[in-house]
Amino acid sequence: MSVRSGFGSKIGAVLAAAGSAVGLGNIWRFPYEVGNYGGAAFILVYLLFIFLLGLPIMIAEFTIGRHSRASTGEAFQRLAPNTGWKWLGYSTVWVGFIILSYYSVVAGWTLKYTLKAGLNGFANQNPADFVAAFSSFSQHPYHPLLFLILFLVLTHVVIVKGVKDGIERYSKIMMPVLFILILVLAACSITLPNAMEGIEFLMRPDFSKVTGKVFLGAMGQAFFSLSLGMGCLTTYGSYFRKDTNLPRTALSVAGVDTFVAIMSSLIIFPAAFSIGISPDAGPSLIFITLPNVFQQAFSGMPILAYLFSVSFYFLLAVAALTSTISMHEVSTAFLHERFKITRQRAAIYVTSSCIFLGIFCSLSLGVLSHITLFDLGIFDLFDFLTAKIMLPLGGMFTSIFVGWRLERSISYVEISNNNTLKVYFFGAYIVLLKYIAPLAIGAIFLSELGIIRL
Ligand code: PHE
Repeated sequence: MSVRSGFGSKIGAVLAAAGSAVGLGNIWRFPYEVGNYGGAAFILVYLLFIFLLGLPIMIAEFTIGRHSRASTGEAFQRLAPNTGWKWLGYSTVWVGFIILSYYSVVAGWTLKYTLKAGLNGFANQNPADFVAAFSSFSQHPYHPLLFLILFLVLTHVVIVKGVKDGIERYSKIMMPVLFILILVLAACSITLPNAMEGIEFLMRPDFSKVTGKVFLGAMGQAFFSLSLGMGCLTTYGSYFRKDTNLPRTALSVAGVDTFVAIMSSLIIFPAAFSIGISPDAGPSLIFITLPNVFQQAFSGMPILAYLFSVSFYFLLAVAALTSTISMHEVSTAFLHERFKITRQRAAIYVTSSCIFLGIFCSLSLGVLSHITLFDLGIFDLFDFLTAKIMLPLGGMFTSIFVGWRLERSISYVEISNNNTLKVYFFGAYIVLLKYIAPLAIGAIFLSELGIIRL
């Protein structure tokens, strides 16, 4: 067997995992879910889930990946040979594949907006123009498709280059730059007129708004944002070096991810309230509020408005790319390992079938909007089924696997790097995986189905 590729450095591994986590989920999805579910109280529930479910399940995924040295599709088969657990691995591959197809639609929009910003397309426009421009673009029968295809081809190119030269190199440079830009933009946004209203929306919890739906939404967002429940971090864990500190890596990834999500809301909501856009505008939120931030905050200095808008959308596209790479990698690595085809060929299958599925997702926002199931179009249905149902289910079974099935000594060896690290929280970690996570996730599902009342 050929030598399995891996990350070249520890910091590269952390950045790649953070690159997977930080993406449209933080900057696009988090703010609009906060808006949908009424602000501050949703954020508190979200933070609770990051801590109680996200962190332990992330460490569990890293453990499974690094111990089995296999991508998620094969990892369970190796750790629990000839048991039903292999189906958990296979199903997570599917989930990642479906997410990739609709996520790439939005990723394509970020490319379009980078181009538009580059051509100075936001200059001298008002909020109503931004709203109109976004809906005519996203509903157009083929413009968004071109950007979707372009985005998946870009992802394909990085994937074919492999782990070290592809994934690691890009993550190392771009992530820190994005970070700085987000800080600057948040500072700009909170100085806009009427920004206080937005800040209040984010800071003052109204617990009367916390319903079962808020729990489901916050749980789904926590899994989505941390890239959990679909074997993505299992697969990355399999490329980690022996001396990578798993708990510390998980803590850094979750910390960076949460920070970016909160900062993104600090960019979006002050801006939305300032120009009178409703916080529950849904998926279009960042595409209609942000161009305004650039125009208004720098109205005296159009060159700055230009530079900031181009760099923001460019970096958003890059953040999306480090996430699409991680999703694509799950399917590609699985096909490559399971069917012994080359990575190149595996990647071609994944890219082309995602383009196919993505086209339907994109069209469902325009010409195919009449096709619905449970009142949801294809795009919304994919988002609902994956983020709110399948990822938490994947996470639940992963925690059951590590909590109940995997030998305790394996967990300990991985977490303590073969007894070279001191681990103070092992007992708590196991309790979280064994009882708390499965029960919490199960209870939220049962309450949504109306079987129990929370
Ligand atoms: N976590 C990514 C984001 O926030 C999305 C993602 C989900 C990536 C699942 C990989 C797996 O954008």
